[in-house]
Amino acid sequence: MRRTLVAGNWKMFGSRALLAEVIGALRDVAGEASKVAEVALCPPFPLLAPAAELLAGSGIGLGAQNLHAAAQGAHTGEVSGAMLREAGCRYVIVGHSERRRDCAESDALVAEKAAAALREGLCPIVCVGEDAGERAAGRQFAVVERQLAAVGERLGAEGLAACVLAYEPVWAIGTGRTATPAQAQEIHAFLRARLGERDATMAAGVRILYGGSVKADNARELFAQPDIDGALVGGASLSGHDFAAICTAAEGKRWNN
Ligand code: 13P
Repeated sequence: MRRTLVAGNWKMFGSRALLAEVIGALRDVAGEASKVAEVALCPPFPLLAPAAELLAGSGIGLGAQNLHAAAQGAHTGEVSGAMLREAGCRYVIVGHSERRRDCAESDALVAEKAAAALREGLCPIVCVGEDAGERAAGRQFAVVERQLAAVGERLGAEGLAACVLAYEPVWAIGTGRTATPAQAQEIHAFLRARLGERDATMAAGVRILYGGSVKADNARELFAQPDIDGALVGGASLSGHDFAAICTAAEGKRWNN
């Protein structure tokens, strides 16, 4: 059974005022949605504590956007998994393409971060996805396979079972150019097949989210695909109205396996 998950990645946007607005809108739908779909919000680090307060008792999950691979240490400006856990996080995004690009995060480092998250009892949302050039060259399958393999080798089937994957084609992020449901489904099925080579039960249980210009008006068709188990939403999660509409669309997905 895979429970649909809709997670909002605020990136480096937002404020306390926006938290109150968006969480207010989510509370209106998440009571209903929580029966069939799970909702999570991943704001920037300074907003985690106020978000945790606003989310208390709502059933809506809290997530961070990054963590350091080490448990603690002299790493100025970094944040550990234990700190995130203490701040009330259930999830942490690792390997987002913006961090792979801006911070030169390698496949190996992403795998270490996923392992660090699991050590602290956090659920890593592991992002994979090809860029426009790689897709133009027909290399999308090879790229996501390589990115997933690095995490799989580090965590094994048992660790993968405790992760969420997110397929985020770089060319669809923030561009308004969503992958078609068929394009996304093709990669999701491919990722699940690769997981299945390690362990069929694990593969059937791991949630694979789609991310890249998910909006209220395209969410339903994406969620209708058999291997799309929810969404990692960027820009649209900054509007209470739009994010709530995507969460409501996820209710239509119901439970599947
Ligand atoms: P957009 O929804 O703004 O395209 O961002 C997607 C994303 O990167 C989520 O992590």
